[in-house]
Amino acid sequence: IDTHAALSCTPGLLKMPRRGALPLRTLVVLLQLALVPSQLAGCLLNPCLEVIANKTFRCTGLNISGVPAEVPNTTQNLDLSFSNLKSLGSNYFSPVPELQLLDLTRCHLHTIEDNSFKDLSKLSTLILTANSLQYLGTAAFYGLTSLKKLVLVETNLTSLTDLPIGHLHTLNELNLGHNNIASLKLPKYFSNLTSLRHLSFTSNKITYISKGDLDAFREVNRINLTLVLSLNNIKYIEPGSFAKIHLGELVLKSSFEDFNGMCTSLQGLTGLHVNRLIVGEFNDRQRLVDFQRGLLSGLCHVQMQEFVLISFREFEDNTDTLFNCIGNVSSIRLVDLRLEEVSEVPVLSQVKHLECKKCKFKEVPAVKLSLFKELRVLRITKSKHLNTFHQKFWGLSNLEVIDLSENRLSFTSCCSPQFRECPNLKHLNLSFNSDISMTGDFINVKNLLYLDLQHTKLFGPGSYPVFLSLQKLIYLDISYTRTHVKSQCTFCGLNSLKVLKMAGNSFENNKLANNFKNLSHLHTLDISNCKLVQVDQSTFDALSELKELNISNNKLLIFDPVVYKPLQALTALDFSNNQLSVLLDSALEILPDSLVLLDISQNLFECSCVNLNFLKWIKEKQELLQNKELMICHTPAYMKNVNLSSFYLSSCQLKASTVTSSVIMLLAAAVFLFLIYKYYFQLYYSLVLLSGCKHSAERGDTYDAFVIHSSKDQEWVMRELVEPLEGGKPPFQFCLYYRDFLPGVPIVTNIIQEGFLSSRNVIAVISTDFLESKWCSFEFDIAQSWQLVEGKAGIIMIVLEEVNKALLRQRLGLSRYLRRNTYLEWKNKEISRHIFWRQLTGVLLEGGKP
Ligand SMILES: *[C@@H]1O[C@H](CO)[C@@H](O)[C@H](O)[C@H]1NC(C)=O
Ligand SMILES: *[C@@H]1O[C@H](CO)[C@@H](O)[C@H](O)[C@H]1NC(C)=O
Ligand SMILES: *[C@@H]1O[C@H](CO)[C@@H](O)[C@H](O)[C@H]1NC(C)=O
Ligand SMILES: *[C@@H]1O[C@H](CO)[C@@H](O)[C@H](O)[C@H]1NC(C)=O
Ligand SMILES: *[C@@H]1O[C@H](CO)[C@@H](O)[C@H](O)[C@H]1NC(C)=O
Ligand SMILES: *[C@@H]1O[C@H](CO)[C@@H](O)[C@H](O)[C@H]1NC(C)=O
Ligand SMILES: *[C@@H]1O[C@H](CO)[C@@H](O)[C@H](O)[C@H]1NC(C)=O
Ligand SMILES: *[C@@H]1O[C@H](CO)[C@@H](O)[C@H](O)[C@H]1NC(C)=O
Ligand SMILES: *[C@@H]1O[C@H](CO)[C@@H](O)[C@H](O)[C@H]1NC(C)=O
Ligand SMILES: *[C@@H]1O[C@H](CO)[C@@H](O)[C@H](O)[C@H]1NC(C)=O
Ligand SMILES: *[C@@H]1O[C@H](CO)[C@@H](O)[C@H](O)[C@H]1NC(C)=O
Repeated sequence: IDTHAALSCTPGLLKMPRRGALPLRTLVVLLQLALVPSQLAGCLLNPCLEVIANKTFRCTGLNISGVPAEVPNTTQNLDLSFSNLKSLGSNYFSPVPELQLLDLTRCHLHTIEDNSFKDLSKLSTLILTANSLQYLGTAAFYGLTSLKKLVLVETNLTSLTDLPIGHLHTLNELNLGHNNIASLKLPKYFSNLTSLRHLSFTSNKITYISKGDLDAFREVNRINLTLVLSLNNIKYIEPGSFAKIHLGELVLKSSFEDFNGMCTSLQGLTGLHVNRLIVGEFNDRQRLVDFQRGLLSGLCHVQMQEFVLISFREFEDNTDTLFNCIGNVSSIRLVDLRLEEVSEVPVLSQVKHLECKKCKFKEVPAVKLSLFKELRVLRITKSKHLNTFHQKFWGLSNLEVIDLSENRLSFTSCCSPQFRECPNLKHLNLSFNSDISMTGDFINVKNLLYLDLQHTKLFGPGSYPVFLSLQKLIYLDISYTRTHVKSQCTFCGLNSLKVLKMAGNSFENNKLANNFKNLSHLHTLDISNCKLVQVDQSTFDALSELKELNISNNKLLIFDPVVYKPLQALTALDFSNNQLSVLLDSALEILPDSLVLLDISQNLFECSCVNLNFLKWIKEKQELLQNKELMICHTPAYMKNVNLSSFYLSSCQLKASTVTSSVIMLLAAAVFLFLIYKYYFQLYYSLVLLSGCKHSAERGDTYDAFVIHSSKDQEWVMRELVEPLEGGKPPFQFCLYYRDFLPGVPIVTNIIQEGFLSSRNVIAVISTDFLESKWCSFEFDIAQSWQLVEGKAGIIMIVLEEVNKALLRQRLGLSRYLRRNTYLEWKNKEISRHIFWRQLTGVLLEGGKP
């Protein structure tokens, strides 16, 4: 029930003048209002959100004691934050023994009694943030034998001494931030915490660090431990406090009260061995703004691999001491410093990696930086004032990587003059800058392997073969560089290239025309977003090693199998966001077996049964296809925005089957009709036979013979057959259709009833005309079957002399040899006639009395 809707209607209701209506509607509203508390109660009855079935429950903001009843004993993650728990007693969590993560943030906890977590032997993370703990039993954390992470942030801790965690051998991370801890004196039990990787005292009240405070760390090697002392108020570190301590990382951001405190405290780090030392300020919380002379002088006696200096703002002209004590550190990162220039570089510096991020250089300080003779990697990035590159790097024989990305550089004559005697330069990253014009001169950096120029406006590439001398280059990124490829030799010379990214550019006439001729080692090609409308036939011929092709976001209408056939090593093809309507069978056939990712989403698919094969294929290849939810139909209009994979294939099959079945039915009907047409007489005869069987006996034979003959032989029949025999002795009676058939009766009925059924014999007068007449053949056929069915005497075949013998044999077949049949040949000679008549009379007489 939507109470809000009901309530918002009430003002309108009150205006309704009609009696009866008002009380009724009000009643409904009141009823709904009355239901609200019970709905709320329903909410309260089920206050836990089941995030992952049986495993993760979120029950926040409850006023409860104990684990909520609806949390099952299979729960692994339980969030009870913002609940009103107040205190935890022993075995508090026994209903949920499988817990791995327990979040008790802001639960108004003041007391944790002994054995509260006793049953949580699998718990790995316990969060107690923002509970002002007043009482913590000495056995409070007993039973937590798997605990890895303990968060005691903002728990009003003042001292480490009584913290009962000494038995938590498995502890990895201990966060004690935002408390009132005043001393870093680590109690003895810290030597038990041998797995500790991260120990944070961020934002406490530590002011002095004295010798012996860190003794618990001295016994065990802590080279994997990060110690965070940020946001304290350190005034002084007694020299020797860190002596012989080995740490992974020490973080001192905004840790010191003032410049002098920092300066002397850093002296106190003497003897420390640390992998990475981070010193500086928080961006938003700067107490020390000025970098002054000698600030880092204490670091001369610290052994470190990497030094990070963060967020110092004012340098002015005091930078000449910056590298004094860090000149032999192998890696230096200067982050977010308003460093405008490098004034002094120590001789024989050992620095190998130097990074300056968000510095304030206006031009690349190549001359000064060239004094870091051991430099291998140099990065100057995200410096929004950096726009010129006039100075030259000189003699950095170890330099391999230069990353000048994400600045505002704008310069010409890239890229040889800027690097003198830097023979090992392999990576050059000039991406995300303003504009660079290239001459094609790479003499000094001809060993380059990686060149990244993406998102920097380029002058040169596309018009002439600028990359000609980069024979070793394996990676080239010129995406979104406003390159317009006019020259077919744009990529000439890049004979080792494996990766070519040039998304977001354009090609002459918006077509790919054999631009990748000699890139036979290419395995990744990105030509997405290049406004392409056409790909010429031989464009990909050389790319037999290509594994990934991204040709998405273009305007291609077809996927021409001939074009893509050479790409037999392809594993990933992104053809999304083009204008394909279908992949034809021939296209599906050339997709190589190696293909594991295919994206054809966001094309203009036609979902009609014409493309049934394609749509079937889509269903079968669900694993291969990416972004299936974006594969939707475009045409026909009634299918628009329907999922391609939910296209109802059976609708096509249904149509196909109805079509086939109706075709079959039509055919059958046609065949049936044809058969009826063809065998109408036979059928009819059969019918008559069946109905007439019993009559025939009663009927008595009216005629001696039924004469079948061609109408053209009528004269012969009258003259040679009827006249001599009907007028002879004994007189015979013949049935002749033109004489004896009953008028008004269907001819077939006549043939059968008057002809066959009323005659004892059948005489077939066989002439050429007879053989050619369908009608006569039919009558002859009927005569044969009649002979069989009725058991009548044979057929008397009279063959007129001029008949073609071969045709005769074919038509009459075997019947002329059957014993019961009589075969007479007529010869127009007086003597033969007499013999003929005698034979015929004999047969007729004989056939009459079977
Ligand atoms: C959650 O537990 C119930 C009862 O133990 C069980 O029926 C159900 O199948 C479980 N669900 C899952 C996803 O494990
Ligand atoms: C919490 O529940 C207790 C009783 O269990 C009650 O006395 C107290 O007023 C409730 N607090 C709130 C904020 O509802
Ligand atoms: C969880 O409770 C069910 C009964 O509700 C019990 O059979 C099962 O053994 C319990 N599992 C654990 C781990 O305690
Ligand atoms: C923190 O603990 C101190 C005593 O150690 C107490 O006086 C103070 O009230 C506690 N703070 C809170 C917010 O409970
Ligand atoms: C340190 O670990 C040992 C051995 O497990 C144990 O006997 C000792 O009580 C632990 N120390 C503390 C302070 O808990
Ligand atoms: C430091 O960590 C690495 C891997 O995390 C491990 O191999 C090494 O043993 C650890 N060293 C110490 C002293 O704990
Ligand atoms: C750096 O090392 C060189 C030679 O290894 C040495 O001469 C120089 O004194 C060292 N500088 C510092 C500041 O340690
Ligand atoms: C070049 O720098 C950009 C921006 O920092 C980065 O995204 C890209 O991966 C770098 N290129 C190479 C080849 O490392
Ligand atoms: C094509 O590449 C081969 C080596 O892969 C090289 O020998 C040949 O000179 C190149 N041809 C052109 C025109 O760059
Ligand atoms: C292909 O390029 C487009 C944009 O140019 C990008 O969004 C897409 O992730 C790329 N596809 C693959 C498979 O990397
Ligand atoms: C399309 O299918 C995807 C899953 O494959 C689904 O998330 C999406 O809601 C479907 N869209 C439509 C319009 O049916």
